[in-house]
Amino acid sequence: MIDFGELGELIKNRRSIRKFEDKPVPEDLLLKALELATWVPNGGNYQPWRFLIITNKELIAKMADAVKAKTELMASWPEAEQFGETVERWRKTSDFFRGAPACIAVLMSRYSSIADQILRARGEKDPLAREIRSYRQLGDSTLQSIAAAISYLLLIFHYFGLGATWMAGPLQAKKEIEQLLGVPPEWAFVDLIPVGYPAEVPKTPQRKPIKEVVEFYR
Ligand SMILES: Cc1cc2nc3c(=O)[nH]c(=O)nc-3n(C[C@H](O)[C@H](O)[C@H](O)COP(=O)(O)O)c2cc1C
Repeated sequence: MIDFGELGELIKNRRSIRKFEDKPVPEDLLLKALELATWVPNGGNYQPWRFLIITNKELIAKMADAVKAKTELMASWPEAEQFGETVERWRKTSDFFRGAPACIAVLMSRYSSIADQILRARGEKDPLAREIRSYRQLGDSTLQSIAAAISYLLLIFHYFGLGATWMAGPLQAKKEIEQLLGVPPEWAFVDLIPVGYPAEVPKTPQRKPIKEVVEFYR
């Protein structure tokens, strides 16, 4: 068993890294981290993920251009004006992964648990079945499984001395990224993880005190 103090340090010292050294990441390190990350608990053990490792600079630049174009489009809408400085910051940072030596595109597939299959067979006419379906969609189990795998992955990267950021932002260019990567229709691009050796480690964003987020029902 590993020491609890060391485990705590590993977890607490991991930061989202957005600036990288111009140094390639060994492929075997990425593979090792991904292999270990697939040992997360996941709904029904369907393992509804695929990981595309992109080190081709041109491809990364094209994905970044697609994300940037969508940011600029949304920032140009009159509705964006009210958000002032925050929009300006977003315009500068949404495509930061352009500078990463590697990016991992995370793809998600759909699977149907037994509950999903029963609810689908029950159809639209039963309001209670519709209600239960909406609860299940709210906490979509496929996406929860993907999130679990990414959490492990980022921690393992940190253990290896690598830095990474979990990015849901690039979803705004889902169609363009899927076209660039040739993603088959049964898979959906959901997250992008730029990874590399950290060139800058940001300050630690503090967490809420545990008493604020925990309640006992004794
Ligand atoms: C679901 C999810 C989506 C995120 N999307 C982005 C993103 O699009 N861009 C980004 O710069 N950071 C993104 N982050 C990173 C968070 O901003 C970061 O984890 C948070 O500020 C806490 O900082 P830390 O990871 O250094 O502890 C995302 C994190 C999660 C869990």
